[in-house]
Amino acid sequence: MSPERTAPPSFHGAHQPGIATRQQDHLAFAAFDVTVERAAELRDLLAAWSAAAERLMAGRRSAADVEAGIDSGEANELAPARLTITFGLGPGLFERDRLGLADRAPTALRPLPPFACDALDPDRCGGDLCVQACADGVQVAFHAVRTLARVAAGAGAPRWAQTGFIQSGDFEDRGTTPRNLWGFREGARNVRLAKDVERHVWVAGGDRAWMAGGTYLVTRRIRARPGGWDGTPVGDQQRAIGREKVSGATLEEEPGTHMAIADGRNNAGARMLRRSYNYFDGVDRAGGELDAGLFFMAFVRDPRRQFVPIQRRLADEDRLSRFAVHTASAVFAIPPGARKGGFVGDGMVGGSG
Ligand code: HEM
Repeated sequence: MSPERTAPPSFHGAHQPGIATRQQDHLAFAAFDVTVERAAELRDLLAAWSAAAERLMAGRRSAADVEAGIDSGEANELAPARLTITFGLGPGLFERDRLGLADRAPTALRPLPPFACDALDPDRCGGDLCVQACADGVQVAFHAVRTLARVAAGAGAPRWAQTGFIQSGDFEDRGTTPRNLWGFREGARNVRLAKDVERHVWVAGGDRAWMAGGTYLVTRRIRARPGGWDGTPVGDQQRAIGREKVSGATLEEEPGTHMAIADGRNNAGARMLRRSYNYFDGVDRAGGELDAGLFFMAFVRDPRRQFVPIQRRLADEDRLSRFAVHTASAVFAIPPGARKGGFVGDGMVGGSG
């Protein structure tokens, strides 16, 4: 195994972990509403979150913390499982200058416009802050979000949350791309090379100076319409996506496919680092179907130039739209990574005092 596969991700660095990190199997994601009214209180929360995240990612657990009730204990015997924790800031944080931070607002952080395929549940949208915990252990990821919610108590309250999973093939190399719940492989065309990540993901100029090395995250909860999809002949499914279902081979000559519409070459070079997870949230009683699909997540340097135009075209032209409904949406600015002794977001709220 390469060192990249075995070395535990580091909390500190130029960029936050959980973005360019090889995708882990499990996601626990939560958005929070901030309940404090002063920037200094937000700073205290961000500093406390970073301190807790560093401990969680390092797997520093202690029986004493469990006995004292500081740690809820469900991860006590568990290894860190490549846990990464990523923090984000939502547009609401800067609205009406409620915390006196309007002049620091990340330049590209704007609420997303409506799209044709939207059926959004407002209770699952937005949020002032977000926490993304990814790990190869489902309970480790949950424990991280739970611990951070405890740390936030009094300063921020959970608004919505989402769990997700991916699973790669047992019979093939671990590096093969996992399948989504439409049954197709996803990620082969993803932004992966370091030079492409530099170009399409990390902020470098054209934004607040403190955002350099940061990025933006767009999340979309996309429910599959399994009834309609499963009854569609596989040949038509393949023509909708642009790939062979079993082999994963690209249908190069097929126009109007999801892949062709989303392809950077057909979108003025716009690309995105997708890091989505499948989800399964029980039953949609009204529709009489399972509530399952894709928690789409994409990291981009500027959502207005990358996500929005591509999603607009997909909403209008994509044959997949008949088999998918977008039920939630959010966008967050992802500050750069924390330096040793610093914390995520310190460039915005100031390091101390
Ligand atoms: C119904 C939900 C969706 C499904 C089932 C789905 C599925 C797929 C599949 C199977 C691929 C080809 C494999 C790959 O290269 O990764 C793909 C590619 C892609 N998808 Fe989606 N996707 C969905 C939603 C979205 C959304 C909302 C966006 C962004 C607005 C998006 C953007 C892309 C992009 C950029 C590519 C790569 C295109 C290329 O460069 O060739 N997808 N998707």
